[in-house]
Order: sequence, then structure tokens, then C-alpha cells
Amino acid sequence: MDGSQDSTLPRISLARSARRWWNDAAAREGRGAAARRLLSVLAEFVRDSTPERRRRRYGDAEYDWDHRVNTTSAAVGWRDRLLGLFHSPYQPTESVLFHEMIEAFGEHTGIDLSEFVFVDLGSGKGRTLLMASDYPFRRIVGVELLPALHETAKQNLSCYHGKSQKCFAIESIRGDATEFLFPDAPTLLYLFNPFPESGMRRLIANLEQSLRTHPRAVYVLYHNPLLEHVLGDSAVLKKICGTHQYAVYASG
Ligand SMILES: C[S@@+](CC[C@H](N)C(=O)[O-])C[C@H]1O[C@@H](n2cnc3c(N)ncnc32)[C@H](O)[C@@H]1O
Repeated sequence: MDGSQDSTLPRISLARSARRWWNDAAAREGRGAAARRLLSVLAEFVRDSTPERRRRRYGDAEYDWDHRVNTTSAAVGWRDRLLGLFHSPYQPTESVLFHEMIEAFGEHTGIDLSEFVFVDLGSGKGRTLLMASDYPFRRIVGVELLPALHETAKQNLSCYHGKSQKCFAIESIRGDATEFLFPDAPTLLYLFNPFPESGMRRLIANLEQSLRTHPRAVYVLYHNPLLEHVLGDSAVLKKICGTHQYAVYASG
């Protein structure tokens, strides 16, 4: 998958997403536990639709207000929120934390960011792409599964003018990020829990294959690393630093 396939992808089907979620969950934890989890996921969806919860999602609108963009999780339609439960719900990275992570990453590794492509797999409305453009990355790429979020990301990219912007080669690609064709260049891969475990395993296998074909420096900056054991199982990625909020892995 690369940018050229952008408009040819089929619409994301709710039934197919739910079926895939069910097959994964039933295989991993058994049908009884999967059914209980499905009920709790649907109950969470109903709770999340109350006016109080919807109001709360506007709580992170400061970034949007400051930059005149639309990146909050508040204005996401019910269908995309339901799809999000079967893939991974959209939630943008908080801006102060993002900058803290990138600064700490830069200090720890001492790398020259201008040699690196910044890739966010599961990039939603593109907030990280905008924030990453404050750094002199060689290029910035986001991949988002849900068409509505990808379209909003494209609008955000076209109207964004950051005072401290240093990278202008930015794109949002619509597609399944587990099938992403990684660039051959040195890469900083950013992940904020975009997939369930099966997707994360596919992604890491894909990255390992890419590293075997094109050995190069690749770092993974994993925010809120709920599935860190998947990276821990990798033969080519080694953890180099982290806190309770993020973990950084490097190709060996
Ligand atoms: C927690 S949000 C993170 C958003 C963004 N990376 C950020 O940090 O601001 C996860 C995103 O991953 C997307 N996603 C889920 N599965 C995906 C897949 N297979 N391919 C691409 N995007 C996916 C969701 O639609 C959602 O927008």
C-alpha cells in the first residue's frame, strides 16, 4: 500500500470489521469471553454517545483553537466511532506530550531528524503530522483507515500554517496501515495504539521484512504502549528508552 492506492480502496464495512474483530477475539480468548467483551464494547459506545461524554470530548479543543484546525475526537460521526471500537478509537495525541516525547527522543538518540521520515500509522485527523512539521523531518507521512478522518486530515494539512513549521513535505494516505509499504529511508515510526494485537503483529512482521530488505535506521516511538510485549517479541527491535507514557525501540 502506498499513496497511489489512495482512492481505490473499498469503503470500510461495519459488518466486515465486526466479523474480523469477533474472529480475532474468539480465537484468542474463546467465544464466551469474546461475547462478554463485545457487550462491554457496545455498552461503552452507548455511554460514549451521551451528551455529557460528547461535551467532554471537546475538552482537547485547545490545539484546534490555537491552529484553526479540526483534530479533536469530538466531531467524529457515530459510524466512525463504532468502526473505531472494532479497529481502534480515534483519539489525538496531546500536544504538550507529543513535543516532550520528540524532544526526549532527539536528546536520547542524537540523530539528525532531517535524515528521517516521520511515519504515523493510524494518523486519524492528522494532528501528529502537523505537530511533527515543527521539526526538520525529511518527510512526514500518515496512514489512516477511516475515510472521513483521512479527508479531515487532508483539509487540516492544506489549511495549516504553523509559525515554527520546518517540514512542508507532508501527506495523509488512506489505507490499512498494517499493509504499509515502508519508505527505504531512515524512519521514525510513531504509534499511538492504532491496532488490536493481531494488527500490531502484522505491522511488526511487515516492518521486520522491510528491514531485512533495506537495512537502515528505524526507530519506533510507541505512545501509551499497551501492546509493548509485541515489540518485545521482535528479533530486530530493541528497547532503548521510555517512561510509563511511551517506549522507544530501535532497529538492531
Ligand atoms: C488512538 S488514534 C491515534 C491518532 C493519531 N495517531 C494521534 O496520535 O493523534 C488511532 C487511529 O488509528 C486508526 N486505525 C485503526 N486501525 C487502522 C488501520 N488498520 N490502518 C490505519 N489506521 C487505523 C483509527 O481510525 C484511529 O484514527
